[in-house]
Amino acid sequence: MLVLGIESSCDETGVAVVKDDGYVLSDVVHTQIDTHARYGGIVPELASRDHVRNIAGVLREALSTANVGLSDLDGIAVTNRPGLVGALLVGVQVAKSIAWGSEKPFVGVDHLVGHLLSVFVQRSETRARVPAFPFVCLLASGGHTAIYRVDAPYAESITELGGTRDDAAGEAFDKAAKLVGLGYPGGPEIDRLAALGNPKAIHFVAPMRDTNSLEFSFSGLKTQVVRWVTEHGRPKNDQKLADFCASFQGAVVSVLAQKVITAAEREGVRDVVLGGGVAANRELRSTLSTLAETRGLCVHIPPVASCTDNAAMIAYAGALELRRGTRASWDLAAKSKTVLVRATRKGRGARMNQ
Ligand code: KG4
Ligand code: ZN
Repeated sequence: MLVLGIESSCDETGVAVVKDDGYVLSDVVHTQIDTHARYGGIVPELASRDHVRNIAGVLREALSTANVGLSDLDGIAVTNRPGLVGALLVGVQVAKSIAWGSEKPFVGVDHLVGHLLSVFVQRSETRARVPAFPFVCLLASGGHTAIYRVDAPYAESITELGGTRDDAAGEAFDKAAKLVGLGYPGGPEIDRLAALGNPKAIHFVAPMRDTNSLEFSFSGLKTQVVRWVTEHGRPKNDQKLADFCASFQGAVVSVLAQKVITAAEREGVRDVVLGGGVAANRELRSTLSTLAETRGLCVHIPPVASCTDNAAMIAYAGALELRRGTRASWDLAAKSKTVLVRATRKGRGARMNQ
């Protein structure tokens, strides 16, 4: 089965052609980082307009790289939730137009399900090792941070074990970077500089690190950074900036890695998976690998191109749905919220003794 995937939920316009065994024939991503960088975050209206401007070119490139035409496809998969509704609408309308014109079936895919299955996307001839079901996955991106138990590759078989009560981990990276004068997005910048710094230079604590809960809270960490900058000013030289990045990153990574290991042990599963843009973080990748090895767990970390937003993961998740007969109707809508049931109430923040 050959499926065309379309992704436009946030600031990446992506189109991919993927087989239902996960093999990628093409995966084209146009990123809008330069459009939004000067505002220090994503401007929804600009995101929608940029998707409109670029999606036709991205689609053409994805088809020509895969060396296929629309008539070769068995179906179309499109991210229809969660995300910026105006941005999602662009992908959804393009998917409907292609489905109408080519008389092919199409399905809507939840972006988070795409991230959770991105580990099955195969980008080279030699097949990467994949996890067995059930597995536990930490999904950490700019908009979402939660740990899930995945029993089967369908939304109804995915259970949230604990999520963030406030900011996402990627959002924490981006906000901390902004506070010390680094560019957007802050995660990759902090990752790069942290490698040169001393993680013990500043004592930052990620709230809820030493609790039994699988929930996260990162807004308190942001407050610690604000206080530190108010007291000391922005780091005054390269070494101080690197020390800041290493200390901040250490606090975030330790809580993410520790909780996903705890989740796997509690659920009695052997396979642990990382997904989302923050999974590109080198310290998170190495800390989790080391921790898992000492506990006899098996870690699966997809390549960076699969961790950040892409259409290949959407095509793959959609292919599995198409294969079991799922079909969307012409009234498929773009929605801001995920279809996955939330176990964590947002907006509660971290409380003492939890
Ligand atoms: O999954 P993603 O591409 O987009 C969504 O939010 O859905 O994730 C983007 C987020 C940003 O917050 C970015 O700062 C963060 O992932 N990120 C990183 C790294 N690369 C990207 N955070 C830490 N270390 C990185 N190397
Ligand atoms: Zn994402």
